[in-house]
Parts: sequence; C-alpha cells; structure tokens
Amino acid sequence: MAQAIVIKNLRKEYGSKVAVKDISLRVEEGKIFSLLGVNGAGKTTTIRVLTGLSRPTDGEVRIFDKDLKSELQEIKKLCNLSPQETAIAPNLTVKENLEFIAEIYGFSRSKAIEKVRQIIEDFSLQEVEDNKAKTLSGGWQRRLSIAMALVTEPKLLFLDEPTLGLDVLARRELWRSIEKLKGRVTIVLTTHYMEEAESLSDSIAVMVKGEIKAQGSVEELKLQTGKDNLEDAFIAIAE
Ligand SMILES: Nc1ncnc2c1ncn2[C@@H]1O[C@H](COP(=O)(O)OP(=O)(O)O)[C@@H](O)[C@H]1O
Ligand SMILES: [Mg+2]
Repeated sequence: MAQAIVIKNLRKEYGSKVAVKDISLRVEEGKIFSLLGVNGAGKTTTIRVLTGLSRPTDGEVRIFDKDLKSELQEIKKLCNLSPQETAIAPNLTVKENLEFIAEIYGFSRSKAIEKVRQIIEDFSLQEVEDNKAKTLSGGWQRRLSIAMALVTEPKLLFLDEPTLGLDVLARRELWRSIEKLKGRVTIVLTTHYMEEAESLSDSIAVMVKGEIKAQGSVEELKLQTGKDNLEDAFIAIAE
C-alpha cells in the first residue's frame, strides 16, 4: 500500500516549549487517519507543520514521497487544509464562496461553475446554496468550510477538529459527508471526540503532551490496552 505521509522523529519547539516531541507515523493513501488527543496535545501543531504553515524544528516528513523541506511547493498542490477556525467569507453566499475559491485556483468560469455544482451535491448543500455564509448555523458553516477545501481536488485533506462546537446532529451529518470522501481522498483529522475517531478512522494515533503514545486501528488499540471501548483504551493510554 502506498504511503501518503511518512513522518520520522518530527519535533516542533516554541521557545522552550516542546509542542511535538519526536513523533513518527505513517498514513496510507486513501485512508482516514485520526490524531486523537486532549486540548494542548499537539494536534494542531502537527497539522501546521505537515501543511507547511509552520517549520519543523527537527525530523523528516515525506508526503506522497516528496520531502517537506525541499519540495513544499509540489506538496502544496496535492494537499488542502480545513482549519480549526472556519474560514469562509461571511457576506458571500455558499455558492459564491465555493466559486470564489475555484476562481482563485485558476478554474475557468465555466469549469468553476461545474465544479461547484458537483461539490454542492456531494456535500448536500443545495438547500442553503443561495444563503449568505454568515446566516448559516455552525454545522452548515463547517460543512461549507470543508467543501471549500475540496474545490482544488486535493489528494490529501487535513481536517483540524472538523466538528468542534457542533451539536450531536450536526456532527453526525458532517461525519456522513466525510465518509463519502473515503477512498477518494486521504484524510487526516484531529479530534478529541472518541466516538468520532472510532466512527470515521481506519487508523488512530493517540497524542499525549506532544508524543504519540499508541497507534493502530480501534480494534488494535482496544487489544493493546485490554479495554472493550476506545474511551477506556484512550484513558489507559493517556495515563
Ligand atoms: N504559536 C505557539 N507558541 C507557543 N506555544 C504554542 C503555540 N502553538 C501551540 N503552542 C503550545 O503547544 C502545545 C500544543 O498545542 P496545539 O498543537 O494547539 O494542541 P492541540 O491542537 O492538540 O490542542 C500547547 O501547549 C500550546 O500551548
Ligand atoms: Mg488544536
């Protein structure tokens, strides 16, 4: 199986603070991979480094077999990020937000319209497509934000806490949208919701204070800890 991401001994320091402590991991192409950890564990820092927003202090990262340091521009063409903070233009409609991104990325007008039509369908955004983004609920805004990250047809998509602050129903809706992408796009998501990691991921890495304490499928993590659910396994790992 081809590897989308291979990380060796990645380290990120902010002054004397070690946010990411020599982590190593692999993400297989086409899979959904979750970084699971409490607030401050180092999830966002890891994503920022992998997407080139922040420079690693040390270590080696290869994305689709390209080196993060020397081939960042090539890597950026293959990846996109939906950040922890939703990034949408509040006064544009849902459709306009998507078309705006498509045009920034150089799609012709007719191609942009076609692309946006398809994404609106994939993400079931039809009922809100002419509404201004600022009038949408949190759940719809997150959905739009992720849809915007897909306009460029990335091979690798980073979702940083995609369901943060959403109610239970909106969260489930968003899980369904993410599941639809399975196999087409490699997805790295961060979350502190156990049921989210359990429901969506092919594999999970548990981050605790900047370190990866355990890795594997949900079943493997349960087996490793002798627990029968992910939450108990997480607690056993985190302690
Ligand atoms: N720009 C920064 N400067 C200093 N410390 C930071 C910065 N960003 C994150 N940190 C620290 O690094 C640690 C990991 O943070 P973060 O990656 O945001 O965790 P998570 O996303 O898992 O909640 C935390 O202790 C946080 O305070
Ligand atoms: Mg974070």
